[in-house]
Amino acid sequence: MTQSLTIARPDDWHLHLRDGAMLQAVLPESARHFARAIIMPNLVPPVVTHADAAAYHQRILAALPADQSFDPLMVLYLTEETDPEDVAAAHASGLVKAVKLYPAGATTNSASGVQDFDKVRGVLEKMAEIGLPLCVHGEVTNSDIDIFDREAVFIDRVLDPIRRATPGLRVVMEHITTKDGVDYVKANDSDLGATITTHHLIINRNHILAGGIKPHYYCLPVAKRESHRLALRAAATSGDARFFLGTDSAPHIDPLKENACGCAGCFTATNTMALLAHVFEEEGALDQLEKFASRNGPGFYGLPVNTETLTLTKSDQPTQFPEKIASGDGPVTVFDPGFPVYWDVA
Ligand code: DOR
Ligand code: ZN
Repeated sequence: MTQSLTIARPDDWHLHLRDGAMLQAVLPESARHFARAIIMPNLVPPVVTHADAAAYHQRILAALPADQSFDPLMVLYLTEETDPEDVAAAHASGLVKAVKLYPAGATTNSASGVQDFDKVRGVLEKMAEIGLPLCVHGEVTNSDIDIFDREAVFIDRVLDPIRRATPGLRVVMEHITTKDGVDYVKANDSDLGATITTHHLIINRNHILAGGIKPHYYCLPVAKRESHRLALRAAATSGDARFFLGTDSAPHIDPLKENACGCAGCFTATNTMALLAHVFEEEGALDQLEKFASRNGPGFYGLPVNTETLTLTKSDQPTQFPEKIASGDGPVTVFDPGFPVYWDVA
């Protein structure tokens, strides 16, 4: 028996598209299902200025296959040199929808991130004034803080002080991985939202480390213990408007993942919607999937919900997802949930 579910076409509120040959390979994987995505600016060098974002936007549109439609929502990478007026102009032009805060050294290509938060105060105040959201990679980078505690410590030491010092600043906690993150969002108002990835709804830290190390499950923030995964599932499936999908689909070629010092990132663009249908059905919450993937994100960003639709169907045969996709730089492994999935996009 075939079961089906039609929802407003989803958006991805946190996506890494990269550049060059990788962009060419991964963009169609996202554009096939998603209408829009918040495009992460951690290129080398990063997308810092309005002009950088305009040029990257052009490269993305040039890489889009003629038969696909996709609206890349551009993001500026916050540095200690970012000019508040440039940010305001980028926002006023309609091109830029958010600014991204990476604490220096937190993750892939974050070396230009912020070390001294006092140096970005002027930018944050301007953003609060004009209503431009700040997307936050919420992990401290201190080597004395255990990697599994970095999100919770960031909330206390960095995020909460920034929010108190900048009333009116709209903040998205990106890719939350802990119950602490969920609770912090719920304890606050609608100026604070959070994205949740597909993979953090599926794996906990055992999946990375037990029975042999699984480099394709390694991402940042790293997956935490099971109780945190369950808190994320409860938040994502609750319908609460402050939680929405940001896949953090982050392609790296296999030689850089299957490596003595492997890169962080799970590539989920290809099968995210099918995996989410599986997760939401498991939670008895298929009726909440549209809010999480298609409604809450536009609500937070003040954008219209897409008028097109996406239909998911469930069959009695497991869906065969590609194991890898090819790029001009090398193969990229598609996230394997480790269990059969019967849903697919029709
Ligand atoms: O796992 C991750 N990969 N987390 C990030 O924050 C960055 C991303 C990437 O760019 O590869
Ligand atoms: Zn990311």
